[in-house]
Amino acid sequence: MTMRWRIPAVCDRSYEIRVSDFLLEPGNDGLLGAGRTSGRRFFILDAGVAEHWQAPLQNYLAARGIDAGFFVVPGGEQAKNMETVGAVLGELRRFGLDRRTEPIIVVGGGAVLDLGGFAASVYRRGVPWLRVPTTLFGYVALSAAVRCGVNAGGAANLIASSYAPKLVLLDRSFLSSLPSREIAGGLGKLLELGLLHDAELFTALESGAETHVTRKLQDDAGRVVLGRAIDLQLRQPYAGTDPSFAAAFAGFADGATVRHGEATALSARLSATISAHRGMLPPDELIRVERLGRRLGLPAIVPDISARVLHDALGRSGVLLPRCVGAGQFVRDVTMAEVALALDAMRQDHSGAGWTVDSATADAEGAGRR
Ligand SMILES: NC(=O)c1ccc[n+]([C@@H]2O[C@H](COP(=O)([O-])OP(=O)(O)OC[C@H]3O[C@@H](n4cnc5c(N)ncnc54)[C@H](O)[C@@H]3O)[C@@H](O)[C@H]2O)c1
Repeated sequence: MTMRWRIPAVCDRSYEIRVSDFLLEPGNDGLLGAGRTSGRRFFILDAGVAEHWQAPLQNYLAARGIDAGFFVVPGGEQAKNMETVGAVLGELRRFGLDRRTEPIIVVGGGAVLDLGGFAASVYRRGVPWLRVPTTLFGYVALSAAVRCGVNAGGAANLIASSYAPKLVLLDRSFLSSLPSREIAGGLGKLLELGLLHDAELFTALESGAETHVTRKLQDDAGRVVLGRAIDLQLRQPYAGTDPSFAAAFAGFADGATVRHGEATALSARLSATISAHRGMLPPDELIRVERLGRRLGLPAIVPDISARVLHDALGRSGVLLPRCVGAGQFVRDVTMAEVALALDAMRQDHSGAGWTVDSATADAEGAGRR
C-alpha cells in the first residue's frame, strides 16, 4: 500500500516600497517601520555610508530612544562573501536579536544589500529585514529585487536565496554623498530605462544631464526623474530575467573596471548600435544615446570583452533593442557577427576622453548641498 500526503504551503512574499525623503529626521518613522516602534534595532551598514551618515543615524536613534547595534561592512564586492556572512551572524547572536520584533536594517550599496539580505535569510531560519539602498544604481535597480546572496568559487551570487525584505525605503538624500562615478553609473541605468521604455524620462535626462550629475539628484528635477525611473522599473515584466547585455558587462565589475550602472549603460549603447545597424533605430537616435552617455559622465572606453561572451550571455531569452528613443522591441535572432560589428563600432567611436565631468568639482558641489 502506498500512503501519500500533500502539505499545502502558501508563501507571502509581498512587500512595500516607500519613497521617504529624510529618513534621519527625528519625526520620520520609516526606519522603525515593520517592527516594534520602541526598543532595539540592528544595522548592517556599508562603510561608504557609515563615513557620511553613521553620526546622523546615531543622533536619530538617540532621539527616538532606540538601542542600536551596528555592523559596518566594507562597500562593494570585497565583503560579499561567506566569511562576512559568518561574521554578521555572530554579531546578530551577540546582540540577541529578537527574531519577530527587531527587523535587521541594511543600509548601503547593492553589494551590502545582497550580503545583508542573505544574512537575514539564513539567521535562525530567516528574520525580517529592511532594505535601504544608498547608491543611485541600488535605488533604482534593487528597489524591487528579491534575490540576495554572496559571491563564491569565483562566481557572482553563487550562494543566493530569494528573500524579500519587509519594507524598502528610498531616501534620495543618501545619494548626496556618492562619488561622481557612482552617480554617473546610476544615471546609466536611468538612460537604459528611458531609451527602452520612456521617451519622457530620456528627454528629462537630456534637458538637465550636467545638473543631474553635479546636484546628485537633490533638486526638484532630480526628484521627478527618480520618481519616474522607479515607477518604470517596478512596472517591468522581466523580473528574474535580464533581456540585455548588462550581466555580461557586469562580469567585469569585480575589479574597478566597470561599475554595475556603467554595465547597464554599455548594454544600452550596444543594443542601440545593433539596432541602428539593422536599420531599426534611426541614426540620429543613436547619436542622441551616445551624446547623452557622454554628458552624464559615462566612460567612453569599452572594456575588453569578446563578442562571444556578450552573445552567449543572451542565451535563448533574446534582447530588448530600441526601435526609437522610448520604445524597445524583443529580438531573439541577434547573431554573434552583429554583436562583433556593433562592438567594433563602439570601440572606434570612442574619443578616449574618459570622464567628461570634473569629478572633484561635482563632489564638492554635492557635499555643499548636504
Ligand atoms: N539583488 C539583485 O537583484 C541585484 C540586482 C542588480 C545588482 N545587484 C548587486 O548590486 C551590486 C552593485 O551595487 P551598486 O552599484 O550599488 O555598487 P556597490 O554596492 O558596489 O557600491 C559602490 C560603492 O559606493 C559606496 N557607497 C554606497 N552608498 C554610498 C553613499 N551614500 N555615499 C558614499 N558612498 C556610498 C560603497 O561603499 C561602494 O564603495 C553588485 O554586487 C550586484 O551583484 C543585485
